[in-house]
Amino acid sequence: MRLKDKKIIVTAAAQGIGRSTALSFAKEGANVIATDINFDKLKELKEEENNIQIQKLDSTDADQVKKFSDSIDKVDVLFHAVGFVHNGTILDCSSEEFHNSMNINVYSAYLMVNFLIPKMLSSKKGNIIIVSSAASSVTGAPNRFIYGTTKGALNGFIKAIAADFIKQGIRCNGILPGTVQTPSWEERVAQAEDPKQAKIDFINRQAMGRLAQPEEIASMAVYLASDESSFVTGGFHIIDGGWTL
Ligand SMILES: NC(=O)c1ccc[n+]([C@@H]2O[C@H](COP(=O)([O-])OP(=O)(O)OC[C@H]3O[C@@H](n4cnc5c(N)ncnc54)[C@H](O)[C@@H]3O)[C@@H](O)[C@H]2O)c1
Repeated sequence: MRLKDKKIIVTAAAQGIGRSTALSFAKEGANVIATDINFDKLKELKEEENNIQIQKLDSTDADQVKKFSDSIDKVDVLFHAVGFVHNGTILDCSSEEFHNSMNINVYSAYLMVNFLIPKMLSSKKGNIIIVSSAASSVTGAPNRFIYGTTKGALNGFIKAIAADFIKQGIRCNGILPGTVQTPSWEERVAQAEDPKQAKIDFINRQAMGRLAQPEEIASMAVYLASDESSFVTGGFHIIDGGWTL
């Protein structure tokens, strides 16, 4: 019960890291509101853990995020996991794809924090966890031009929020995973020219010779969401099986 009675909002909770983290938060006693654009998948999450509240929410839609924040009395922790992986170099990235990735990966974080941080300020405490990536300002991954650019921007975002609100009792940390076995990763492998080779390449990238499981990211999330990490802010918490050693 490391998160007993904490009110936690999770975005991108329908699958992958967000889903696994929502379940771990609930197991540790938190009151979780799990949000995602995919409501059918959220219903499956609710079937697995009835204590979790579910709410359809597009984190890139300002009206929806405002309405959502208006409906909430308080929030202790925001865990923001919305993200999209575009494949390719700068030459493969059209203006439309550039703006789409900025919208999903960076603007969504802006909206969620901008609308929810006033609730944290009024209770003089708060905790924000942003899922960034090792592929960011930490390392350049081939064919991850706009993805790495947006995650690098999120690393700046994390530092800025941590610096601006440290005196008001608000912490902000980033989790920077390596490759995690999630549904969207399975799709990326399936869509590769040679899926078998793509899988081998993803695995070999990490010095441990395997992928992370979403639960391993959720463990770090539980620590960061709990008071055990009360002196930790502005950190980039890399979980990458030795990829960026
Ligand atoms: N899987 C990995 O290898 C990996 C590695 C490093 C970082 N990450 C980051 O972790 C986060 C989660 O990735 P994942 O692979 O666990 O999940 P995923 O890609 O499998 O699922 C993403 C979820 O986000 C939801 N979503 C998409 N757009 C949304 C929006 N506008 N509003 C609300 N929900 C939206 C989708 O419906 C889906 O449920 C992302 O930010 C990703 O960049 C993933």
